[in-house]
Amino acid sequence: MIITIIDKKRRRKRLTREDLAYVVSGFLDGTIPDYQMASLLMAITIHGMTTEEACDLTDVMLHSGERIDLSAIPGIKVDKHSTGGIGDKTTIILAPLVASLGIPVAKMSGRGLGLTGGTIDKLEAIPGFRVSLSETEFVNQVTEIGLAITGGTKNLVPADKAIYALRDVTGTVASIPLIASSIMSKKLASGADKIVIDLKVGKGALMPNRIEAEKLAYLMTRIGKQYGKDTVCILTDMDEPLGCKIGNALEIQECMEVLQGGGPKDIKDLVLYLAMYMIHMGTGMSYEEARIAAIEQLSNGEAYAKFEEMVACQGGDLSRLTVAPKVFSIKSTKTGFITAIDAYKIGAVVHKIGAGRSNKEDQIDYGVGVELTKKTGEFVTEGEELVKVYLHEHDLAMQEILDCFTITEHAPTLHPLIYGVIESD
Ligand code: URA
Repeated sequence: MIITIIDKKRRRKRLTREDLAYVVSGFLDGTIPDYQMASLLMAITIHGMTTEEACDLTDVMLHSGERIDLSAIPGIKVDKHSTGGIGDKTTIILAPLVASLGIPVAKMSGRGLGLTGGTIDKLEAIPGFRVSLSETEFVNQVTEIGLAITGGTKNLVPADKAIYALRDVTGTVASIPLIASSIMSKKLASGADKIVIDLKVGKGALMPNRIEAEKLAYLMTRIGKQYGKDTVCILTDMDEPLGCKIGNALEIQECMEVLQGGGPKDIKDLVLYLAMYMIHMGTGMSYEEARIAAIEQLSNGEAYAKFEEMVACQGGDLSRLTVAPKVFSIKSTKTGFITAIDAYKIGAVVHKIGAGRSNKEDQIDYGVGVELTKKTGEFVTEGEELVKVYLHEHDLAMQEILDCFTITEHAPTLHPLIYGVIESD
């Protein structure tokens, strides 16, 4: 039977829901071995799937485990997902910001994938912060304070955990229907009423260009619509790292700066844009009113107060947040305009000095990371600081860091941060 299904996909025939259910349950119970599953995943990666097949696969994966029931929490629950990027710390700012307006935020987040750090790893940089709430604790905390961020439960879409682990080592991550069903099955299982997806495009992202990103966005909004969940995909730039600080504890510091009304412009602009959609979808406010409300919450201290409340509820102690003690200042060897800061390369450097994992079991070094002193578009003179590196003992590859920067004589044309929005029609 599995051979027939692999052969069907090889011949570009449509797989039925029964085929997909057979494959997913067989893979989970071990009757379909990795090599046959890998073969099918590669056939899907090469030949793609119809929208109906992708919807069926999402449904089968969604039903492979438990679903979180948020119905006891009053109000419209709007979830947010990011496809992941270097320095992407938006959830940690956005969730308390939106919750501070009385919109419940029940957020399940993940750990790092590849070079991009995960929200859960970043929150674990706060000593004591509990990231493994039980479902009851999670629902109770959102009911009481309107906000909780926790790691996914073991039984939430187990099919995705098993299939993703195999995709990661078989060159089958970059398949639009496989990505769409992986993301949407988890979002649907997390129980929110509406979904906002920050779909990253660029060098440091899963989607290298806008054409591919738009295909993924249309598919995810179609899947959301099938379940009656308004889904909005916002396509945003990820050629350069978001914000200035990259590394777990450093990123928490930067989140606190933005929540207190400061912080770098790009991260603040992105947070305000995503917040505008979440607030609009959660309350029906106009986009304009939603944006004004979000700006107000960052400047009046309420978003920060909600963040502190969440940290206290989950056992975290912000006074013990620490970054690595050795700080190296890396100076520019050229004079000119910074025309690019390669997000992928910066991610690789930060990963190398210990902020990410190469294996599932690796221990993260929460205190290490980099802080960009200059961003794209700024002028730098030879000998002026470009970046600070926070380390313990590792050798520092200075040339690798300098290679992340492109410095030229002429000022660059800056990319927009937001490329476009695709919504379920
Ligand atoms: N993120 C996911 O959750 N799934 C994918 O397949 C890719 C990125």
